[in-house]
Amino acid sequence: MLELDKVVVLDFGAQYSQLIARRVRELGVYSEIIPYNVPLEKLADPRVKAVILSGGPSSVFDRDSPLVSEKVFSLGKPVLGICYGMQLMAHLSGGRVVSSKVREYGHSKVTVSGGSALFRGLEGSLKVWMSHGDVVETLPPGFTAGARSENGLIAAMADDQRGLYAVQFHPEVTHTDRGTEILSNFVFGAAKCEKNWDMHRFIEEKSKEIKSRVGDRPVVMAVSGGVDSTVMAVFLGRILKGTLHCVFVNNGVLRMNEETAVVKLLTDLGVKVDLVDASGLFLGALRGVSDPEKKRKIIGKNFIKVFLKHVRRLEFLAQGTLYPDVIESVSVKGPSSTIKTHHNRVKGILKLIKEGRIIEPFCELFKDEVRKIGQELGVPDSIVWRQPFPGPGLAVRMLGPVTGEKLRVLRESDAILQEELSRDAAAYRKIWQSFCVLLPVRSVGVMGDQRTYQNAVVIRCVASQDGMTADWVEFPPETLRRASSRIVNEVKGVNRVVYDITTKPPATIEWE
Ligand code: XMP
Repeated sequence: MLELDKVVVLDFGAQYSQLIARRVRELGVYSEIIPYNVPLEKLADPRVKAVILSGGPSSVFDRDSPLVSEKVFSLGKPVLGICYGMQLMAHLSGGRVVSSKVREYGHSKVTVSGGSALFRGLEGSLKVWMSHGDVVETLPPGFTAGARSENGLIAAMADDQRGLYAVQFHPEVTHTDRGTEILSNFVFGAAKCEKNWDMHRFIEEKSKEIKSRVGDRPVVMAVSGGVDSTVMAVFLGRILKGTLHCVFVNNGVLRMNEETAVVKLLTDLGVKVDLVDASGLFLGALRGVSDPEKKRKIIGKNFIKVFLKHVRRLEFLAQGTLYPDVIESVSVKGPSSTIKTHHNRVKGILKLIKEGRIIEPFCELFKDEVRKIGQELGVPDSIVWRQPFPGPGLAVRMLGPVTGEKLRVLRESDAILQEELSRDAAAYRKIWQSFCVLLPVRSVGVMGDQRTYQNAVVIRCVASQDGMTADWVEFPPETLRRASSRIVNEVKGVNRVVYDITTKPPATIEWE
């Protein structure tokens, strides 16, 4: 992790922990999330300037509720408790937490009484986002109530002398008006952090670190043409000068002309890349396979095989891992914290990590921060704002076995869809993903005077923040009409186009 001053977010299993770290970074201060049960010495590190206790689904009354040592309040560092974090602070400091008869969920209003550094400039009524069942009934000694809810419940407390602050609501979500100001009061007012985190600083620090680690030894990486790998290739290419070896594998399930477009783009950006055409191998291995999980495994396994065979010598491997992929997701049900198994954390990779042979320049960053680096490095908007495309590609966008004919139909349909949607560049940027899916059904149609019996194509367009939840996109009718009409007219074998109007959950984004 970066050797910078930081605000640490102790994670008690909140869905919003990442959002807290992100808001602090947006203020210009580096922030990291760590599990609630790390040894206290980690927090005693002088680079840790302040601690935030996150919310979480537990109650301090649960038998196995996640706790932290009360010594965290005597480290001499400002602490901010949010939601469960506030209850914990009260519980551990001699206050009384009770299960409230009035539950406060969603939009709410609090009255800030002022006087505390946390609410400087925010006295009066404040719209906030609440989500709690328990409540602090009696303040711990030394604390005063900084805010009360419409129900008269304590909504914030502070002991300014000791730099201890807590809010029952969530300042990190956008539904809380002026939440950023509350966090800013904590980070700059109470914790006196310096504003020194920006992408420029990050690029400088990271470049130094990688240069000293790698020297002139070779680094290999796979590129996909997506945002993360492209920005990383440009970034590493500039630092490593000639020792970076990029490989693009054509797995046979790419979109129309994708391999040539990606190689050209990277070459134009000054990145040398080897194009390995293994489409025959992949399509052969996929022949007759319908099960989507099997398709994924075949593609994943063959990818590693082809990549390693091509690079021959592997000294350092660079991966475009992002922060949300690697932070530990806390299991609040017990002391053992679980780590989500991500494809960048499989056994072989873990071994390389131990040996110090994995380079992951972006593993402290969120996606939007990688986009900012891309912009700093002059990567074109078409890449910086590129939609995610799954590793198993079109194989998971056609139901049933992969065939050359189905790939043709899908590629042509998808190319038309992208062309139509990108006519409105601003609207296109707001779409998380837009693509076609080929169904394993045929239906009757009529073209001219002829009866047809052909394929049905689904258009799927979703808006999303992170792919975890998604909503379908509402287009002007004309947009869908044009795309549909062009697909049935121009793509041989398609006589029906439907639009998917399902959210995630309960559906997923891809159809598989
Ligand atoms: P689902 O279909 O689960 O997808 O709602 C969520 C997001 O993840 C992408 N996705 C993948 N990305 N490798 C990837 O890099 C994969 O195997 C993979 N499968 C799904 C999907 O496109 C969506 O953005």
